[in-house]
Amino acid sequence: MIAALQERFDVVTNVDDTPWSPDEIAAKLAGCEAAMSTVLCKFDASVFERNPQLKVVSNIAVGYNNIDVAAATKHGVRVTNTPGVLDDTTADLTWALLMATARRIAEADAWVRGGEWKIAFGMHSFLGTDIHHATLGIIGMGRIGQAIARRASGFDMTVLYHNRSPLPAEDEKRLNATRVERDELLARSDFVVVMVPYSPATHHLIGAADIAKMKPGAILVNTARGGVVDDAALVQALREGRIAGAGLDVFEGEPKLHAGYLDFKNVVLTPHIGSATRSNRIKMCETAVANLTAVLDGKTPANLVNK
Ligand code: DGY
Repeated sequence: MIAALQERFDVVTNVDDTPWSPDEIAAKLAGCEAAMSTVLCKFDASVFERNPQLKVVSNIAVGYNNIDVAAATKHGVRVTNTPGVLDDTTADLTWALLMATARRIAEADAWVRGGEWKIAFGMHSFLGTDIHHATLGIIGMGRIGQAIARRASGFDMTVLYHNRSPLPAEDEKRLNATRVERDELLARSDFVVVMVPYSPATHHLIGAADIAKMKPGAILVNTARGGVVDDAALVQALREGRIAGAGLDVFEGEPKLHAGYLDFKNVVLTPHIGSATRSNRIKMCETAVANLTAVLDGKTPANLVNK
């Protein structure tokens, strides 16, 4: 990707994922017309104020809560993202976490590696939660939510969803999914998956009161964004044994974790790797390059966030 960009542009890179502060980003962008970023880079208003020549920030992600879009718009900077290409990859990771948590995979793996396996078959060892024929509740039924729902049919699950707007009837039928109110979803689901973008409106969307409404023994999975789930409330619910476990790929304040999570073997933790497969990252980069070059060529990019 970088080579392709270098054929047309002078490129400044940060390929080793050094977390540049907004101040460093603003300084590095001096004289640059375009920026390509990951969710690691925080573009606050100061970046745009200090770089009036900037035309586009092309985020290599579907989420763009790392960018102050209102400030970008105010300064005439176009913001683009990479929707679509990562839906299946993120849905796969969501399922991996759901299954790993339900069947206690991480815990069992650590146990075997730790030399604890002394009796060949344990009638009471690592008893988990059935996935097949269970009820899956998806909060946020956009493209990724729907990709998660599609996978549930192989497990003969009942799929409930909650979304601001209902899906068209033919999509509900195709996905075998029923729209319900959030409280009903929380009360009925054996697995609750959160798949909404982060914004002030979704901050702590799943907090103490919501977790209290979950079916006792249910499992929560978050592969959307940290901050959508209130980590402190979830840790407290785990401490009280209210739910059976959680599979989490994203955290408020990542890479820092709420220390409480480390106390629980029934919590599976991954480091924001929802979109992390080689082929998907290539697709994301290609999409981001196409968006960036479209703006520099005076065209409308395919994935414009601030229309
Ligand atoms: C996204 O695309 O928003 C992911 O979280 C980062 O890959």
